[in-house]
Amino acid sequence: MNFKAVAVILAGGRGERFGGGVPKQFVDVQGKMIVEMAVDTFERCERIDEIVLVFPAGWIEFADNLRVRNGWKKVIKVIEGGKTRQESSFKGISAIDDEEAYVLIHDGARPFVSEEVINRVIDKLESGASAVITGVPSTDTVVRIEDGGIVGEVLDRNKIWLVQTPQGFLLSVIRKAHKLAVQEGVEDVSDDGGLVLRSGVAEVVVVEGDRKNVKITFREDLGMSL
Ligand code: CTP
Ligand code: MG
Repeated sequence: MNFKAVAVILAGGRGERFGGGVPKQFVDVQGKMIVEMAVDTFERCERIDEIVLVFPAGWIEFADNLRVRNGWKKVIKVIEGGKTRQESSFKGISAIDDEEAYVLIHDGARPFVSEEVINRVIDKLESGASAVITGVPSTDTVVRIEDGGIVGEVLDRNKIWLVQTPQGFLLSVIRKAHKLAVQEGVEDVSDDGGLVLRSGVAEVVVVEGDRKNVKITFREDLGMSL
């Protein structure tokens, strides 16, 4: 059985590492704001039915203006984010009233997401997966560092993937994972797939993301993507 697909776009952060006068998701790139570029792609994607936007406190009216200006018809709710990404994500999924749905959670700081990646995630959900992350194999070697800058372990590069968003879930699964985390006092997991994994609620599978789908974290990330 297939469900409605709802995108939750997380733009509730403050962009502290990026710096500047406004949160990074509101910075213009190629004539559009980073978050507008992300929302545009979900709005355009035929298989996405609805969009929930999570914006920082004080930016809700601004979000409504963006919705009108861009003619976003799928944006059904704009809600205020929380203190951590985990909290913003929980608030976002809690705004969905359906009993069951496919939920695609996406970082509003990833403007270069493509319809291909979104469709890949939905395909995987429709084929029966309940938790799907996107990622790319690491091209760099990754090491684990111990206290004092000592290299503890060189990880096997062939098994290391870098995780991206969107990530797709059955609504019931991601809801349960978030509730368990709150009950256990876990408050700052930066990745929804990681929440499902730690909860043991469902198996988490990976599908191919896109090297172009970078998260803008530092100013340098924009330089590389232009
Ligand atoms: N995010 C959110 N609510 C928060 C924190 C983050 O919705 N309380 C969102 C960000 O807006 C971003 C995504 O989660 O789209 C990934 O987070 P990150 O890259 O860490 O963004 P910021 O938290 O804004 O940046 P920083 O950590 O440098 O302050
Ligand atoms: Mg952050």
